[in-house]
Amino acid sequence: MTSRHQPAAQTADGPHWILLNPGPVNLSARVRQALLRVDLCHRQAEFLEFQETIRQQLLAVYDLDPARWAAVLLGGSGTTAVEAMLTSMVPRAGHLLVLENGVYGERCSEIAGLHGIRHEDRSQPWTAALDPAALEHRLSTGSQVSHVAVVHHETTTGRLNRLDQIAARCRTAGCRLLVDAVSSFGAEAIDFEGWEISALVGTANKCLHAVPGISFVIVRRADLQPLDPARSLSLDLFRHCQAQDRRDTLFTPPVQCCYALSEALLELQEEGGWQARRQRYRQRAATLAAGLAELGMEALLDRQETSASLCSYHLPAGMDYPQLAAALKKQGFIIYAGQGPLAGTIFRIANMGALEDRDMERLVQVFGELPETSS
Ligand SMILES: Cc1ncc(COP(=O)(O)O)c(C=O)c1O
Repeated sequence: MTSRHQPAAQTADGPHWILLNPGPVNLSARVRQALLRVDLCHRQAEFLEFQETIRQQLLAVYDLDPARWAAVLLGGSGTTAVEAMLTSMVPRAGHLLVLENGVYGERCSEIAGLHGIRHEDRSQPWTAALDPAALEHRLSTGSQVSHVAVVHHETTTGRLNRLDQIAARCRTAGCRLLVDAVSSFGAEAIDFEGWEISALVGTANKCLHAVPGISFVIVRRADLQPLDPARSLSLDLFRHCQAQDRRDTLFTPPVQCCYALSEALLELQEEGGWQARRQRYRQRAATLAAGLAELGMEALLDRQETSASLCSYHLPAGMDYPQLAAALKKQGFIIYAGQGPLAGTIFRIANMGALEDRDMERLVQVFGELPETSS
């Protein structure tokens, strides 16, 4: 592989980029190696037993009881699983309320609209917190809301939405809670039982440190009912779950992605679970925050509102995003742009993946040596 830019290090396979985008992430050697395991037919007993192992590994991340919860595996990206959750969990007579403060909340509404799910949204500015009082007011007046959809970590800004506050309002009103935890599963506290979550989406290639291609929905078994008729064939969670429960699979799963996911889950467990991962991410975030603050750079949100896995910063004075991204890429770092109206004002740095602690220290140093462009 050749590149215009100078990567951080050369490996036998080409340049080693340090990925500071919110997935796909840098892989550990053992996860990469897992991709090379034996070829299997997905109808072989060996694969189907292995599929069950992964489902149990996913439940074990948050100590969930398999009698009450099911992990349903789906080939595809995080959006696939969000679409499966919304189209399978909201019944035809249901009414979905979507809480939005970023791209991914808005995507939930878009999915609901495309599938003709009766829904309404409650939008906040992208830099604002969700408003539990407004939710409480809506749930206690007007037409009955059956389900509330919310993004846990809104990756658009790095805000960790206060699910405890949202969950409390849903509980009082008797509505079910559907959660997009695509960029928080594996590295943040998620109180499945306490928050009475009905279903929650995660994906392999963010805080779990595996490869893109497989995502999942963790569903409360009691809430998973067939829809008549179903809204989708390939995204029907009920049918997927039934098949996986009887050690089968509806369609062709990404076998090699399953290998990587299982290895990554083992690695997470050996490293101390989501708590240890959150701690490690926080340390990386703190190193970066302290270094950038010394250089006079400002975070978009307060630290206590921000997830462990990603932080947004205002662009340095006199630099636009393409200039900044190119300067950092020359040193091997891949950062991430702001989206929509934030594209011209912020950049994002994720802490996910098999990074070395010294990567963040070097990043701070590289920021300190950026060419002066403000004149
Ligand atoms: C919170 C959240 N939801 C959904 C998605 C969509 O995931 P994917 O790009 O894997 O479809 C993302 C991607 O970054 C995300 O951060």
